[in-house]
Formats: sequence, C-alpha cells, structure tokens
Amino acid sequence: MSYYPEILFALFILPGGSLGKSLDCPTLSTTHCQADCLNIPNDIVCEAVDDEELTRLLGQYANTSTSPLRLTIRKSPLLHLSHQLFEPVIPHLWDLRLESDTIVNEIPSGSFEGLKNLRSLDLTGNKIAHLHAGDFAGLTSLRGLKLERNPLIDLASGIFDGLPSLQCLDLDDNALTCDCKLMWMKNWAVNHPKLWEDNKEVYAEAKEDCDGDIPDCEYPPVMKDRNVTEIPADICDDFLTDLDCLDLQSEHCRTHCDNWTPVSIQCTNVGFEELHGLLSRYSRVVDRVLRLDIAHSKNLILNETLWFPVKDQLIHLNLNHGRYTLKQGTFAGLSKLLYLEMDDCEIGNVPVGAFTGLTALKGLTLDDTEHIDEGAFSPLKSLACLKLDDHDDHGLCDCEMKWLGKWMGGHGGLFADRVLMYEYSGLKVFCDGDAVDCTQKTREELC
Ligand SMILES: *[C@@H]1O[C@H](CO)[C@@H](O)[C@H](O)[C@H]1NC(C)=O
Ligand SMILES: *[C@@H]1O[C@H](CO)[C@@H](O)[C@H](O)[C@H]1NC(C)=O
Ligand SMILES: *[C@@H]1O[C@H](CO)[C@@H](O)[C@H](O)[C@H]1NC(C)=O
Repeated sequence: MSYYPEILFALFILPGGSLGKSLDCPTLSTTHCQADCLNIPNDIVCEAVDDEELTRLLGQYANTSTSPLRLTIRKSPLLHLSHQLFEPVIPHLWDLRLESDTIVNEIPSGSFEGLKNLRSLDLTGNKIAHLHAGDFAGLTSLRGLKLERNPLIDLASGIFDGLPSLQCLDLDDNALTCDCKLMWMKNWAVNHPKLWEDNKEVYAEAKEDCDGDIPDCEYPPVMKDRNVTEIPADICDDFLTDLDCLDLQSEHCRTHCDNWTPVSIQCTNVGFEELHGLLSRYSRVVDRVLRLDIAHSKNLILNETLWFPVKDQLIHLNLNHGRYTLKQGTFAGLSKLLYLEMDDCEIGNVPVGAFTGLTALKGLTLDDTEHIDEGAFSPLKSLACLKLDDHDDHGLCDCEMKWLGKWMGGHGGLFADRVLMYEYSGLKVFCDGDAVDCTQKTREELC
C-alpha cells in the first residue's frame, strides 16, 4: 500500500486516462530509445538506433500497448528503413518522425508500405535528393507531410496523388530545379491551395501544428527565390534536343536547356579554356540570348577573347563572389549586355576603360569595391541602376574618391530599388540600386 499516495498524486496531475499506460512504459526504454507514455500518443524517441534494437522495441510495444504511438528516430544512419521494421506497430503508428540524416539520397522503396493509420510523417532535415513514384503509396490517413530542409532536386510526377487525407505539405528550403520536369508540380500546387496554409492541426492530439510551404526553386538562377507557381507556362515547348543539350554541358558548367529565355549557363570553378570552348559551341548551336552565372572561379581570366563567341547573345552576366582584376577592355564587345553583377568580388580598382563597350548596360552591381577611377562609368550610356553599397570597407569614402560624391549627386535616379532589367515569358529580372553611404563629414575630414 506504500505506493498508494504516488498513484493519487499521478491521478491528480496527469491528464485523465493516461495513468494505466504510465505504468507499462519504463520497461520499453532501451540503450538508444526513450519511451514516454504519459500522453496520447505515446512517445518513443530513438537516436543512433539500429535495426535489431528497434525491431525488438516495437515488438515489445505491440505486446504491451494498444495506444497510438509517435515514433521519432534521429541521427540513425545505420538503420535500414523497410516496412518490416514498422510492421508490429502498424495499427498504432500515428506519427512518424525520421530526422537528421537518417535518410540519405532516397527513401528505400516500400519503407512506408501499409502504414494506413499514419497521420503525420515528418522527414525534416534528411538528405533526400530524389522522391520516386510510390514513396508515399498507401498512406491513406496521412494528413501532414513535412519534407523541409532536404536537398530535394526532383519530385516524381504525381508523387502526392495517393494521399487522399493530406491537409498540409511542407516543402520549404529544398533545392528544386524548376524546369519542365517540375511543370506538373506547378499545376498541382495551384490546384491544392489549402495545403500551403499555416497552423494546420494534423490531428487533435498532435503537439504541434503543420505549416504548409509551397516549394521554392533554386535552379536555374532566374528561378532562385521564386516558387514553382512561377515556372513559365511555355517552358516545355521544344527547345534543344537532348543531343544538343548534352553538347552544352561541360565539367564545371551546366546549361539549362528548357525553353528558358534567356538560356542559362551556370559554371563553378571553371577555367578560361573550358568556358571559351563552351561559349563557342553555344554560339554555333543556339541563336538565343544568354545569361551566364559564374561562381567561385579563382583562376578565370576575363577578357574580350572569352566573351567574343557570345558577344551578340550575352544579356546578363553574374560574376558575384569571384576574384577578378578589371582592366581596360575587360568587357569590350558586349554591346548587348543589360545586366552585370559583380557583388562581393573584392575589386581593388576599377580603371578607366573597364566598362568600355557596355553601351546597352542598364544595371551594374559592384558592391565591395576599393577604388573606382573617375570617368570609369562614362561609357555606360544606358545605365539605370547602380549598386555600390560598401558596408564592409570604406575605400569608396576615401579622400581620392571625392569625385564620386559629386557624381552620385548628379545621378540620384540610379539608386532606386527594383529597376527592371529585362522580361521574358512573364519573368522579370530586377536590379536594386544602392548609393555609397559615407557621410560628407568623413570625406571632408580626410581631405
Ligand atoms: C510478443 O508476444 C509474443 C506472443 O506472446 C511473443 O512470442 C513475442 O516474443 C513477444 N515479443 C516481444 C518483443 O516481447
Ligand atoms: C508564389 O509566387 C506567387 C507569384 O509571385 C506569389 O503570388 C505567391 O504568394 C507565392 N506563394 C508563396 C506561398 O510564397
Ligand atoms: C585572354 O586570355 C587568354 C587566356 O589567358 C589569352 O589566351 C588571350 O590571348 C587573351 N586575350 C586578350 C585579348 O588579351
């Protein structure tokens, strides 16, 4: 009778009906799993668990409890996901969370087969890159599905079709390539607006709500920070054949061959020969305008020879985060270029003549530049947007940059936000201007 007061105490503080379950739970805990049966659903949380330990534990659970179960498995790369693993608890499993790199690249085929009572599936923060048809087949009770923070590249068409109860879908923070293959998702997203709402209750006893999130795009660059509903309607029109497209890929560059205007080429760590060769092939195969994004290419020399093959096609050049030396004539010949981005390039000096030939240029971003020669901007007859913000270094506020203060005063219109650079298929590309923000006093004190 000595335990009697404890039971009374438990009755007093615990939600009704949970007392019986609290008694059989401690025996379920194992080396890598903690069981907590105070609430509905019961909780089992495992970390670094393997197949054997989990199989034994779930078998035991099925023998001792008929209550709904929430199973959380974290950081368990040794686990081989399969439906056999969950089989003993199929009737009870309401809520399954597989988190933190427990699943790498893809979900083993059939892992969730038969989980007909599952209400919530949380796959946040894994390394799932591909979702295949059938990955969620048979989850007829599933109301909430979270796939955020995975490096998802592609989603098989119709992947969410077999989920008649789905109320909330979270696809935030992935790395989707929004090309023709994802066109189905655009139509599907538009037809299922309720899935993207916030604060959805997944089931009454769930301890947290689900915030739906429409998938954002990462690639191609023009789709970055846009969502799937913005994929242009004509993206799947015939453009380049597979063979031509293959010819436009190279070791460090990827060409997006859907019906993009401009066509997009993205390179990382590319060198002069490789890029020059690719641009030469491009000009022979494609007669469209081009956007070129070059990232982290330390050894690339920029000069007139490099651009020459695409001088009549290149309209947007993004060199952000690169390390380049600008010389006279670096961009010579690019008379169609509309937008040149050079943010965070730590440019030491912009000499007179660096922008010679850029007669059509509407937007220039140059933030993080140490020094600009007076007169360097004079070839830019069409300039409508200039970004010069240099919050990191104050070179542009030095005494010898005094001319810039006066020049900016006469060109105030260049520093507005959202200046349109170009527009194709309803996709607009904007430039955000920004003036150098040094007080007049700083320059005067220095001079
Ligand atoms: C569950 O119960 C069955 C039947 O009594 C028994 O054979 C099995 O070993 C039990 N499983 C576990 C994991 O305790
Ligand atoms: C997706 O993009 C469209 C078009 O810009 C926008 O209206 C909508 O709000 C975006 N949806 C979400 C959830 O961000
Ligand atoms: C541009 O650089 C490449 C590679 O270093 C070189 O072969 C070529 O002659 C240069 N062209 C000009 C115009 O300087």
